[in-house]
Amino acid sequence: MATDPKNIRTLALFNHKGGVGKTTLTINIADAMADLGLKVLVVDADPQCNLTSFYLSEKELDDLLGDSDDVNGGTIWSAIKPVVEGKGPIKSIQPFGLHNGVLLCPGDVLLADYEEELPAAWTDSFARKTRGYDVMSALSRASRGIAAKYEADLIMFDVGPNVGPLNRAILLDVDSFATPVAADLFSLRALSTVGRSLARWIGDCKTIRQIAAPADRDTLPKGKPHYLGYITSTYKVSSGRQATHPHDYWEAKIAPRVRDRIVEDIRKQDASLVPDGSNKIGSIKDFHSLAPQAQVLGLAIGKLRGEVNPGYYEQVKEAGAEFDTLAREILRRMGIKIKAKNGHS
Ligand SMILES: Nc1ncnc2c1ncn2[C@@H]1O[C@H](COP(=O)(O)OP(=O)(O)O)[C@@H](O)[C@H]1O
Ligand SMILES: [Mg+2]
Repeated sequence: MATDPKNIRTLALFNHKGGVGKTTLTINIADAMADLGLKVLVVDADPQCNLTSFYLSEKELDDLLGDSDDVNGGTIWSAIKPVVEGKGPIKSIQPFGLHNGVLLCPGDVLLADYEEELPAAWTDSFARKTRGYDVMSALSRASRGIAAKYEADLIMFDVGPNVGPLNRAILLDVDSFATPVAADLFSLRALSTVGRSLARWIGDCKTIRQIAAPADRDTLPKGKPHYLGYITSTYKVSSGRQATHPHDYWEAKIAPRVRDRIVEDIRKQDASLVPDGSNKIGSIKDFHSLAPQAQVLGLAIGKLRGEVNPGYYEQVKEAGAEFDTLAREILRRMGIKIKAKNGHS
């Protein structure tokens, strides 16, 4: 029996800086949550489609993207296209069943077309035009509809590295979001933009909801994204010159930056949206060559036993344990109970 779309929980990992491990975390946390008995739908809402390319072969991807603009298309764009073009309601698409029972709603480069429509939809929403509401929440409503039909408990959105209109529409309609942070200057600086943008979006959405007719509020983004905190990545993407500061140096700067630039900015809008306790959810190690190997196989890093040289098994086990800890902490912060399929709750 399908679940009520209203009961489906939603989460996005968001940072305006790229290469901080958002997609890798999404894949591995979704797998860890599946181990804990949750049915997770991952939605690739990044027009770059990195998440989709991780899971699907080049052939599958080519067929899928080639047909996505047709009536039988199977990507997230195919689902929302009728609404964006003003030709009809959301179309349900069938998600891909992946390893461990995770479901994938594939991304699409054509999401760029949706992104182009969103500023007008935002303006229309301020003018109380229902077309604006429909378009603003299309991707989110389509994802919830698919999750409900396929009985998922939780949706994880993978988003692109920017504070553009597409991410605004998604972030304003999730229950919760977390910020992955890498140990470098750009990643740190990006946190200020994340906080400032989120606070402004939440404030604007409050206005949009207040002026909307009560009957229309169900179609609007909820505008209540709870900030769960940050996740530090200790791996370093090579960026030209040698890093001059050790990880601890950045780690010490991240905590106050998150507090002052994200938590305090959001608290000013709505104090119920910030964490009660520590702002740090956890951290993730550098898994070196295991990350690209997992990518080639389309598997979580913790599931590489039997697939890689036994010399790596200890690291594989460690990865499994780290993502399990992160997944449990995220679920705890979201107030979601673990069903314990393979977990040890
Ligand atoms: N914990 C990790 N250890 C080693 N490499 C990682 C780790 N997390 C991510 N990577 C690698 O870093 C690169 C960027 O990660 P990705 O998840 O695509 O970041 P984003 O989605 O934020 O752009 C990828 O090549 C990925 O394989
Ligand atoms: Mg990514």
